[in-house]
Amino acid sequence: MSKYSFDEIVSHLKSSGFVYQGSEIYGGLSNSWDFGILGAALKKNIKDLWWKVFIETNPYNVGIDSAILMNTKTWEASGHLKGFADAMVDCKECKSRFRADKLIQDAIDLSVEGKTFEEMDAVINEHHIVCPDCGKFNWTNARAFNLMFKTYIGTLEDAKSTVYLRPETAQGIFVNFNNVARTSRKKIPFGIGQIGKSFRNEITPGNFIFRVREFEQMELEFFCKPGEDMKWYQYWIDTCFNFVKKLGIKEENLRIRPHDPEELAFYSNGTSDIEYAFPFTDWGEVWGIADRTDYDLKKHSEYSGKELSYLDPDTNEKYIPYCVEPSVGVERLFLMICCDAYEKENLENGEERVVMHIHPSIAPIKACVCPLSKKLSKEASELHAKLVNEFACEYDEAGSIGKRYRRNDAIGTPFCITYDFDSLEDNCVTIRDRDTMEQKRIKIDELSAYIKERIKF
Ligand code: GAP
Repeated sequence: MSKYSFDEIVSHLKSSGFVYQGSEIYGGLSNSWDFGILGAALKKNIKDLWWKVFIETNPYNVGIDSAILMNTKTWEASGHLKGFADAMVDCKECKSRFRADKLIQDAIDLSVEGKTFEEMDAVINEHHIVCPDCGKFNWTNARAFNLMFKTYIGTLEDAKSTVYLRPETAQGIFVNFNNVARTSRKKIPFGIGQIGKSFRNEITPGNFIFRVREFEQMELEFFCKPGEDMKWYQYWIDTCFNFVKKLGIKEENLRIRPHDPEELAFYSNGTSDIEYAFPFTDWGEVWGIADRTDYDLKKHSEYSGKELSYLDPDTNEKYIPYCVEPSVGVERLFLMICCDAYEKENLENGEERVVMHIHPSIAPIKACVCPLSKKLSKEASELHAKLVNEFACEYDEAGSIGKRYRRNDAIGTPFCITYDFDSLEDNCVTIRDRDTMEQKRIKIDELSAYIKERIKF
Protein backbone atom coordinates (compact mmCIF):
# COMPACT_ATOMS: atom_id res chain seq x y z
CA MET A 1 0.00 0.00 0.00
CA SER A 2 1.13 3.56 -0.68
CA LYS A 3 2.86 5.11 2.34
CA TYR A 4 1.02 8.35 1.62
CA SER A 5 -2.48 9.01 2.84
CA PHE A 6 -5.33 8.99 0.37
CA ASP A 7 -6.17 12.57 1.35
CA GLU A 8 -2.67 13.70 0.43
CA ILE A 9 -2.83 12.03 -2.99
CA VAL A 10 -6.33 13.34 -3.72
CA SER A 11 -5.33 16.82 -2.66
CA HIS A 12 -2.36 16.69 -5.05
CA LEU A 13 -4.57 15.52 -7.94
CA LYS A 14 -7.02 18.34 -7.26
CA SER A 15 -4.49 21.11 -6.80
CA SER A 16 -2.35 20.21 -9.80
CA GLY A 17 -5.17 20.06 -12.35
CA PHE A 18 -5.84 16.35 -12.73
CA VAL A 19 -9.34 16.34 -11.27
CA TYR A 20 -11.82 19.10 -10.43
CA GLN A 21 -14.97 18.87 -8.39
CA GLY A 22 -17.99 18.52 -10.71
CA SER A 23 -20.24 21.63 -11.01
CA GLU A 24 -17.95 23.34 -8.51
CA ILE A 25 -19.24 26.91 -8.89
CA TYR A 26 -22.73 25.69 -7.92
CA GLY A 27 -21.46 23.99 -4.79
CA GLY A 28 -20.76 20.74 -6.64
CA LEU A 29 -22.86 17.67 -7.29
CA SER A 30 -22.20 14.89 -4.85
CA ASN A 31 -19.55 12.46 -6.03
CA SER A 32 -19.24 13.91 -9.49
CA TRP A 33 -15.83 14.83 -10.82
CA ASP A 34 -14.47 16.56 -13.88
CA PHE A 35 -11.11 15.71 -15.35
CA GLY A 36 -8.88 18.74 -15.68
CA ILE A 37 -6.15 19.58 -18.14
CA LEU A 38 -3.77 16.86 -17.01
CA GLY A 39 -6.48 14.39 -16.01
CA ALA A 40 -8.16 14.56 -19.41
CA ALA A 41 -4.80 13.87 -21.07
CA LEU A 42 -3.99 10.99 -18.71
CA LYS A 43 -7.43 9.48 -19.21
CA LYS A 44 -7.17 9.74 -22.97
CA ASN A 45 -3.71 8.17 -22.90
CA ILE A 46 -5.00 5.25 -20.80
CA LYS A 47 -7.87 4.66 -23.23
CA ASP A 48 -5.65 4.99 -26.30
CA LEU A 49 -3.18 2.51 -24.82
CA TRP A 50 -5.91 -0.01 -23.97
CA TRP A 51 -7.31 0.32 -27.49
CA LYS A 52 -3.88 -0.15 -29.02
CA VAL A 53 -2.99 -3.21 -26.92
CA PHE A 54 -6.37 -4.93 -26.73
CA ILE A 55 -7.85 -3.99 -30.11
CA GLU A 56 -5.51 -2.56 -32.74
CA THR A 57 -2.46 -4.76 -32.24
CA ASN A 58 -4.25 -7.81 -30.88
CA PRO A 59 -4.62 -10.48 -33.55
CA TYR A 60 -7.98 -11.70 -32.20
CA ASN A 61 -9.94 -8.56 -31.47
CA VAL A 62 -11.97 -5.84 -33.15
CA GLY A 63 -13.56 -2.72 -31.69
CA ILE A 64 -16.99 -1.09 -31.87
CA ASP A 65 -18.73 1.93 -30.35
CA SER A 66 -22.35 1.20 -29.47
CA ALA A 67 -25.07 3.57 -28.25
CA ILE A 68 -25.61 4.40 -24.59
CA LEU A 69 -29.40 4.27 -24.92
CA MET A 70 -30.61 0.83 -25.95
CA ASN A 71 -33.94 -0.88 -26.54
CA THR A 72 -35.34 -1.67 -23.09
CA LYS A 73 -35.64 -5.33 -24.02
CA THR A 74 -31.84 -5.46 -23.82
CA TRP A 75 -32.05 -4.96 -20.06
CA GLU A 76 -34.88 -7.48 -19.68
CA ALA A 77 -32.76 -10.06 -21.48
CA SER A 78 -29.54 -9.28 -19.60
CA GLY A 79 -31.34 -9.45 -16.25
CA HIS A 80 -30.47 -5.86 -15.33
CA LEU A 81 -34.10 -4.76 -15.00
CA LYS A 82 -34.82 -7.43 -12.44
CA GLY A 83 -31.51 -8.23 -10.89
CA PHE A 84 -29.19 -5.23 -11.11
CA ALA A 85 -30.00 -4.08 -7.64
CA ASP A 86 -28.28 -3.56 -4.33
CA ALA A 87 -29.90 -4.24 -0.96
CA MET A 88 -30.44 -0.90 0.74
CA VAL A 89 -31.63 0.05 4.18
CA ASP A 90 -32.92 3.44 5.32
CA CYS A 91 -32.45 4.93 8.75
CA LYS A 92 -35.99 5.89 9.83
CA GLU A 93 -34.60 8.54 12.17
CA CYS A 94 -32.33 10.63 9.93
CA LYS A 95 -33.43 9.24 6.52
CA SER A 96 -29.88 8.31 5.50
CA ARG A 97 -29.67 5.44 3.04
CA PHE A 98 -26.99 2.73 3.03
CA ARG A 99 -26.03 -0.32 1.09
CA ALA A 100 -26.78 -3.10 3.57
CA ASP A 101 -23.65 -5.11 2.73
CA LYS A 102 -21.41 -2.08 3.14
CA LEU A 103 -23.08 -1.04 6.38
CA ILE A 104 -22.39 -4.49 7.82
CA GLN A 105 -18.87 -4.72 6.42
CA ASP A 106 -17.92 -1.30 7.84
CA ALA A 107 -19.51 -1.97 11.22
CA ILE A 108 -18.42 -5.52 12.01
CA ASP A 109 -16.05 -6.41 9.15
CA LEU A 110 -18.24 -9.25 7.89
CA SER A 111 -18.84 -10.05 4.22
CA VAL A 112 -22.48 -10.87 3.47
CA GLU A 113 -21.79 -11.79 -0.16
CA GLY A 114 -24.51 -14.18 -1.36
CA LYS A 115 -26.81 -13.60 1.66
CA THR A 116 -30.53 -12.91 1.20
CA PHE A 117 -32.13 -9.61 2.24
CA GLU A 118 -33.70 -11.32 5.25
CA GLU A 119 -30.33 -12.69 6.31
CA MET A 120 -28.80 -9.20 6.08
CA ASP A 121 -31.63 -7.80 8.24
CA ALA A 122 -30.90 -10.54 10.76
CA VAL A 123 -27.18 -9.64 10.90
CA ILE A 124 -27.99 -5.93 11.40
CA ASN A 125 -30.38 -6.78 14.24
CA GLU A 126 -28.21 -9.41 15.88
CA HIS A 127 -25.19 -7.07 16.01
CA HIS A 128 -27.30 -4.04 16.80
CA ILE A 129 -25.61 -2.03 14.03
CA VAL A 130 -26.49 1.63 14.47
CA CYS A 131 -26.79 4.33 11.81
CA PRO A 132 -23.29 5.77 11.12
CA ASP A 133 -24.86 9.21 10.56
CA CYS A 134 -27.08 9.66 13.64
CA GLY A 135 -26.10 6.75 15.90
CA LYS A 136 -29.72 5.52 16.24
CA PHE A 137 -30.97 1.99 15.68
CA ASN A 138 -34.19 2.19 13.67
CA TRP A 139 -33.89 0.61 10.25
CA THR A 140 -36.27 -0.28 7.45
CA ASN A 141 -35.96 -3.82 6.14
CA ALA A 142 -33.41 -4.33 3.37
CA ARG A 143 -34.98 -3.92 -0.07
CA ALA A 144 -33.86 -3.86 -3.67
CA PHE A 145 -32.73 -0.65 -5.30
CA ASN A 146 -32.20 -0.81 -9.05
CA LEU A 147 -28.99 0.91 -10.03
CA MET A 148 -30.00 1.88 -13.55
CA PHE A 149 -30.72 5.52 -14.32
CA LYS A 150 -34.07 5.95 -15.99
CA THR A 151 -34.96 8.56 -18.58
CA TYR A 152 -37.54 9.06 -21.33
CA ILE A 153 -37.26 9.08 -25.07
CA GLY A 154 -39.42 11.51 -27.08
CA THR A 155 -42.01 13.88 -25.69
CA LEU A 156 -44.06 11.57 -23.46
CA GLU A 157 -42.87 10.56 -20.03
CA ASP A 158 -44.64 7.24 -19.67
CA ALA A 159 -43.76 3.58 -19.29
CA LYS A 160 -43.58 3.04 -23.04
CA SER A 161 -41.02 5.79 -23.52
CA THR A 162 -38.79 4.72 -20.62
CA VAL A 163 -35.18 3.99 -21.47
CA TYR A 164 -32.15 3.41 -19.29
CA LEU A 165 -28.63 4.75 -19.36
CA ARG A 166 -26.50 1.63 -19.85
CA PRO A 167 -24.93 0.33 -16.64
CA GLU A 168 -22.22 -1.50 -18.63
CA THR A 169 -20.96 -1.36 -22.20
CA ALA A 170 -20.95 -5.16 -22.54
CA GLN A 171 -24.56 -5.51 -23.67
CA GLY A 172 -23.93 -3.21 -26.64
CA ILE A 173 -21.39 -5.81 -27.75
CA PHE A 174 -23.61 -8.87 -27.28
CA VAL A 175 -26.48 -7.37 -29.28
CA ASN A 176 -24.03 -6.66 -32.12
CA PHE A 177 -22.56 -10.17 -32.19
CA ASN A 178 -24.18 -11.05 -35.54
CA ASN A 179 -23.28 -7.68 -37.09
CA VAL A 180 -19.62 -8.05 -36.18
CA ALA A 181 -19.47 -11.71 -37.22
CA ARG A 182 -20.98 -10.70 -40.60
CA THR A 183 -18.85 -7.60 -41.24
CA SER A 184 -15.49 -8.72 -39.86
CA ARG A 185 -13.44 -11.54 -41.26
CA LYS A 186 -12.77 -13.01 -37.85
CA LYS A 187 -13.17 -16.65 -37.03
CA ILE A 188 -13.76 -17.91 -33.51
CA PRO A 189 -11.94 -17.32 -31.22
CA PHE A 190 -12.37 -13.55 -31.56
CA GLY A 191 -13.14 -10.66 -29.28
CA ILE A 192 -15.15 -7.46 -29.55
CA GLY A 193 -14.10 -4.54 -27.40
CA GLN A 194 -15.35 -1.06 -26.72
CA ILE A 195 -14.70 1.95 -24.56
CA GLY A 196 -17.57 4.06 -23.35
CA LYS A 197 -19.55 5.68 -20.59
CA SER A 198 -21.60 3.64 -18.17
CA PHE A 199 -23.95 4.90 -15.49
CA ARG A 200 -24.96 3.41 -12.15
CA ASN A 201 -27.03 5.07 -9.50
CA GLU A 202 -24.72 3.78 -6.78
CA ILE A 203 -26.21 4.02 -3.29
CA THR A 204 -22.84 4.62 -1.72
CA PRO A 205 -20.44 6.14 -4.23
CA GLY A 206 -17.23 7.45 -2.81
CA ASN A 207 -13.50 7.26 -2.28
CA PHE A 208 -13.02 10.03 -4.80
CA ILE A 209 -13.23 8.59 -8.33
CA PHE A 210 -13.14 4.93 -7.18
CA ARG A 211 -16.93 4.49 -7.13
CA VAL A 212 -18.82 7.05 -9.14
CA ARG A 213 -22.19 7.20 -10.84
CA GLU A 214 -20.86 8.12 -14.26
CA PHE A 215 -17.72 6.35 -15.42
CA GLU A 216 -16.04 4.83 -18.43
CA GLN A 217 -15.49 1.17 -19.05
CA MET A 218 -13.10 -0.64 -21.35
CA GLU A 219 -14.68 -4.01 -21.96
CA LEU A 220 -13.78 -6.94 -24.12
CA GLU A 221 -16.16 -9.81 -24.87
CA PHE A 222 -14.03 -12.66 -26.12
CA PHE A 223 -15.94 -15.44 -27.89
CA CYS A 224 -14.57 -18.95 -28.03
CA LYS A 225 -15.62 -22.54 -28.51
CA PRO A 226 -17.41 -24.10 -25.52
CA GLY A 227 -14.88 -26.18 -23.65
CA GLU A 228 -12.02 -23.83 -24.53
CA ASP A 229 -13.29 -21.10 -22.21
CA MET A 230 -11.12 -21.94 -19.21
CA LYS A 231 -7.98 -21.72 -21.35
CA TRP A 232 -8.98 -18.26 -22.55
CA TYR A 233 -10.09 -17.22 -19.08
CA GLN A 234 -6.55 -17.84 -17.86
CA TYR A 235 -5.10 -16.16 -20.97
CA TRP A 236 -7.03 -12.95 -20.31
CA ILE A 237 -6.22 -12.93 -16.59
CA ASP A 238 -2.52 -13.15 -17.52
CA THR A 239 -2.81 -10.56 -20.30
CA CYS A 240 -4.58 -8.00 -18.09
CA PHE A 241 -2.23 -8.61 -15.17
CA ASN A 242 0.82 -8.20 -17.42
CA PHE A 243 -0.65 -4.97 -18.81
CA VAL A 244 -0.91 -3.54 -15.32
CA LYS A 245 2.59 -4.69 -14.38
CA LYS A 246 4.03 -3.27 -17.58
CA LEU A 247 2.53 0.07 -16.60
CA GLY A 248 4.96 -0.09 -13.71
CA ILE A 249 2.46 -0.72 -10.92
CA LYS A 250 4.36 -2.16 -7.95
CA GLU A 251 3.75 -5.88 -7.71
CA GLU A 252 3.41 -5.87 -3.94
CA ASN A 253 0.35 -3.63 -4.40
CA LEU A 254 -1.34 -6.05 -6.79
CA ARG A 255 -3.09 -9.37 -6.46
CA ILE A 256 -5.40 -11.62 -8.43
CA ARG A 257 -8.38 -12.74 -6.39
CA PRO A 258 -10.44 -15.64 -7.72
CA HIS A 259 -14.07 -15.39 -6.58
CA ASP A 260 -15.31 -17.97 -4.07
CA PRO A 261 -17.96 -20.35 -5.44
CA GLU A 262 -20.72 -18.57 -3.47
CA GLU A 263 -19.75 -15.23 -5.03
CA LEU A 264 -19.96 -16.52 -8.60
CA ALA A 265 -22.95 -15.72 -10.80
CA PHE A 266 -24.84 -18.98 -11.41
CA TYR A 267 -23.85 -19.02 -15.09
CA SER A 268 -20.14 -18.23 -14.57
CA ASN A 269 -17.42 -20.86 -14.79
CA GLY A 270 -14.99 -18.57 -13.01
CA THR A 271 -14.36 -14.91 -12.17
CA SER A 272 -11.19 -13.27 -10.92
CA ASP A 273 -10.49 -9.68 -9.98
CA ILE A 274 -7.21 -7.85 -10.31
CA GLU A 275 -7.09 -5.86 -7.11
CA TYR A 276 -4.93 -2.98 -5.94
CA ALA A 277 -4.01 -2.03 -2.38
CA PHE A 278 -5.61 1.43 -2.46
CA PRO A 279 -4.73 3.65 0.51
CA PHE A 280 -8.39 3.78 1.62
CA THR A 281 -9.04 0.03 1.80
CA ASP A 282 -7.21 -3.29 2.02
CA TRP A 283 -7.82 -4.30 -1.56
CA GLY A 284 -10.07 -2.73 -4.20
CA GLU A 285 -11.23 -4.22 -7.49
CA VAL A 286 -9.70 -2.69 -10.59
CA TRP A 287 -10.28 -5.25 -13.34
CA GLY A 288 -12.77 -8.13 -13.43
CA ILE A 289 -12.21 -11.13 -15.70
CA ALA A 290 -15.26 -13.38 -15.96
CA ASP A 291 -16.05 -16.55 -17.84
CA ARG A 292 -19.69 -15.81 -18.72
CA THR A 293 -20.24 -19.05 -20.69
CA ASP A 294 -23.00 -18.70 -23.32
CA TYR A 295 -25.38 -16.95 -20.92
CA ASP A 296 -25.59 -13.53 -22.62
CA LEU A 297 -25.89 -14.67 -26.23
CA LYS A 298 -28.50 -17.28 -25.20
CA LYS A 299 -30.56 -14.70 -23.32
CA HIS A 300 -30.46 -12.17 -26.17
CA SER A 301 -31.36 -14.91 -28.61
CA GLU A 302 -34.32 -15.88 -26.44
CA TYR A 303 -35.63 -12.32 -25.99
CA SER A 304 -34.99 -11.08 -29.54
CA GLY A 305 -35.99 -14.26 -31.37
CA LYS A 306 -32.77 -13.94 -33.42
CA GLU A 307 -30.28 -16.74 -33.69
CA LEU A 308 -26.96 -15.75 -32.14
CA SER A 309 -24.81 -18.73 -32.97
CA TYR A 310 -21.64 -19.40 -34.90
CA LEU A 311 -21.14 -21.76 -37.80
CA ASP A 312 -17.57 -22.97 -37.90
CA PRO A 313 -16.57 -22.73 -41.58
CA ASP A 314 -13.92 -25.42 -41.20
CA THR A 315 -15.86 -28.09 -39.32
CA ASN A 316 -19.45 -27.06 -40.10
CA GLU A 317 -20.16 -27.21 -36.37
CA LYS A 318 -22.79 -24.79 -35.13
CA TYR A 319 -22.77 -23.58 -31.56
CA ILE A 320 -23.42 -20.61 -29.27
CA PRO A 321 -19.95 -19.34 -28.37
CA TYR A 322 -18.79 -19.04 -24.79
CA CYS A 323 -17.61 -15.64 -23.69
CA VAL A 324 -14.74 -14.50 -21.46
CA GLU A 325 -15.01 -10.87 -20.39
CA PRO A 326 -12.16 -8.69 -19.09
CA SER A 327 -13.81 -5.48 -17.90
CA VAL A 328 -12.08 -2.47 -16.39
CA GLY A 329 -13.09 1.05 -15.39
CA VAL A 330 -10.96 3.90 -16.72
CA GLU A 331 -11.32 5.86 -13.47
CA ARG A 332 -10.18 2.85 -11.43
CA LEU A 333 -7.06 2.43 -13.57
CA PHE A 334 -6.47 6.19 -13.38
CA LEU A 335 -6.72 6.16 -9.58
CA MET A 336 -4.49 3.10 -9.22
CA ILE A 337 -1.86 4.65 -11.51
CA CYS A 338 -1.88 7.91 -9.56
CA CYS A 339 -1.79 6.25 -6.11
CA ASP A 340 1.13 4.09 -7.22
CA ALA A 341 2.99 6.92 -8.94
CA TYR A 342 2.85 9.48 -6.13
CA GLU A 343 6.05 10.00 -4.16
CA LYS A 344 7.48 12.66 -1.89
CA GLU A 345 11.28 12.71 -1.75
CA ASN A 346 13.75 14.57 0.42
CA LEU A 347 16.54 15.84 -1.75
CA GLU A 348 20.17 16.23 -0.76
CA ASN A 349 19.88 20.03 -0.83
CA GLY A 350 17.22 19.84 1.86
CA GLU A 351 14.35 20.50 -0.56
CA GLU A 352 11.36 18.24 -0.92
CA ARG A 353 10.04 17.16 -4.27
CA VAL A 354 6.72 15.58 -5.18
CA VAL A 355 7.09 13.30 -8.16
CA MET A 356 4.53 11.29 -10.09
CA HIS A 357 6.28 8.24 -11.56
CA ILE A 358 3.60 7.76 -14.23
CA HIS A 359 4.66 5.38 -16.99
CA PRO A 360 6.06 7.66 -19.74
CA SER A 361 3.74 6.12 -22.36
CA ILE A 362 0.68 7.55 -20.60
CA ALA A 363 2.16 10.62 -18.89
CA PRO A 364 -0.02 13.65 -19.73
CA ILE A 365 3.01 15.64 -20.92
CA LYS A 366 6.06 13.86 -22.27
CA ALA A 367 8.59 16.68 -22.21
CA CYS A 368 8.93 20.32 -21.27
CA VAL A 369 11.26 22.76 -23.02
CA CYS A 370 12.81 25.17 -20.52
CA PRO A 371 15.06 28.00 -21.76
CA LEU A 372 17.69 28.84 -19.17
CA SER A 373 17.08 32.53 -19.75
CA LYS A 374 14.28 34.53 -21.35
CA LYS A 375 16.93 35.76 -23.77
CA LEU A 376 16.75 32.29 -25.32
CA SER A 377 12.95 32.34 -25.75
CA LYS A 378 13.02 32.54 -29.53
CA GLU A 379 15.29 29.54 -30.09
CA ALA A 380 13.70 27.47 -27.31
CA SER A 381 10.17 28.08 -28.54
CA GLU A 382 11.23 27.10 -32.04
CA LEU A 383 12.47 23.82 -30.61
CA HIS A 384 9.20 23.40 -28.73
CA ALA A 385 7.18 24.09 -31.89
CA LYS A 386 9.07 21.24 -33.59
CA LEU A 387 8.69 18.75 -30.74
CA VAL A 388 5.03 19.41 -30.09
CA ASN A 389 4.26 17.85 -33.45
CA GLU A 390 5.87 14.62 -32.28
CA PHE A 391 4.43 14.21 -28.75
CA ALA A 392 2.73 16.22 -25.97
CA CYS A 393 5.34 18.84 -25.20
CA GLU A 394 5.10 21.96 -23.04
CA TYR A 395 7.08 25.17 -22.93
CA ASP A 396 7.94 26.79 -19.61
CA GLU A 397 10.09 29.84 -19.03
CA ALA A 398 8.61 31.05 -15.73
CA GLY A 399 10.68 30.89 -12.54
CA SER A 400 14.02 29.33 -11.75
CA ILE A 401 15.06 26.19 -13.59
CA GLY A 402 14.81 24.24 -10.32
CA LYS A 403 11.20 25.37 -9.84
CA ARG A 404 10.38 24.34 -13.38
CA TYR A 405 11.85 20.88 -12.78
CA ARG A 406 9.80 20.55 -9.57
CA ARG A 407 6.59 21.61 -11.35
CA ASN A 408 7.16 19.00 -14.04
CA ASP A 409 8.10 16.25 -11.56
CA ALA A 410 4.87 16.89 -9.70
CA ILE A 411 2.73 16.29 -12.79
CA GLY A 412 4.74 13.32 -14.05
CA THR A 413 6.54 14.84 -17.06
CA PRO A 414 9.29 12.28 -17.85
CA PHE A 415 11.72 14.74 -19.47
CA CYS A 416 12.76 18.37 -19.07
CA ILE A 417 14.85 19.88 -21.84
CA THR A 418 17.05 22.80 -20.91
CA TYR A 419 18.07 25.15 -23.68
CA ASP A 420 21.08 27.22 -22.58
CA PHE A 421 23.55 29.66 -24.12
CA ASP A 422 25.87 26.83 -25.20
CA SER A 423 22.96 25.40 -27.20
CA LEU A 424 23.33 28.34 -29.60
CA GLU A 425 26.85 27.14 -30.37
CA ASP A 426 26.89 23.36 -29.99
CA ASN A 427 23.28 22.55 -31.05
CA CYS A 428 22.89 20.42 -27.95
CA VAL A 429 20.49 20.62 -25.01
CA THR A 430 20.48 19.14 -21.51
CA ILE A 431 17.85 16.49 -20.97
CA ARG A 432 16.82 15.64 -17.42
CA ASP A 433 15.18 12.41 -16.39
CA ARG A 434 12.22 12.76 -13.98
CA ASP A 435 12.87 9.56 -12.03
CA THR A 436 16.66 9.56 -11.68
CA MET A 437 17.09 13.35 -11.99
CA GLU A 438 20.13 12.54 -14.14
CA GLN A 439 21.05 15.10 -16.75
CA LYS A 440 22.88 14.60 -19.97
CA ARG A 441 23.86 16.60 -23.00
CA ILE A 442 22.28 15.49 -26.24
CA LYS A 443 22.25 16.74 -29.82
CA ILE A 444 19.05 18.58 -30.76
CA ASP A 445 18.87 16.48 -33.92
CA GLU A 446 18.69 13.32 -31.80
CA LEU A 447 16.27 14.67 -29.21
CA SER A 448 13.00 13.56 -30.74
CA ALA A 449 14.17 9.99 -31.40
CA TYR A 450 15.69 9.80 -27.89
CA ILE A 451 12.42 10.76 -26.22
CA LYS A 452 10.21 8.68 -28.51
CA GLU A 453 12.25 5.59 -27.71
CA ARG A 454 11.68 6.17 -24.00
CA ILE A 455 7.95 6.90 -24.07
CA LYS A 456 7.07 3.59 -25.69
CA PHE A 457 4.86 1.13 -23.79
N1 GAP B 1 -19.70 -6.09 -17.77
C1 GAP B 1 -19.24 -6.48 -16.48
C2 GAP B 1 -19.21 -5.41 -15.50
O1 GAP B 1 -19.64 -4.31 -15.75
P1 GAP B 1 -18.45 -4.86 -13.07
O2 GAP B 1 -17.58 -5.64 -12.14
O3 GAP B 1 -19.76 -4.39 -12.55
O4 GAP B 1 -18.63 -5.79 -14.35
C3 GAP B 1 -16.42 -3.79 -14.31
O5 GAP B 1 -17.63 -3.61 -13.62
C4 GAP B 1 -15.42 -2.73 -13.91
O6 GAP B 1 -15.98 -1.43 -14.09
C5 GAP B 1 -14.99 -2.79 -12.45
O7 GAP B 1 -13.95 -3.71 -12.26
C6 GAP B 1 -14.53 -1.36 -12.21
O8 GAP B 1 -13.22 -1.19 -12.72
C7 GAP B 1 -15.49 -0.55 -13.08
N2 GAP B 1 -16.62 -0.01 -12.29
C8 GAP B 1 -17.76 -0.66 -11.95
N3 GAP B 1 -18.57 0.15 -11.24
C9 GAP B 1 -17.93 1.34 -11.12
C10 GAP B 1 -18.25 2.59 -10.49
N4 GAP B 1 -19.40 2.79 -9.88
N5 GAP B 1 -17.34 3.58 -10.56
C11 GAP B 1 -16.15 3.40 -11.22
N6 GAP B 1 -15.82 2.26 -11.82
C12 GAP B 1 -16.68 1.23 -11.79
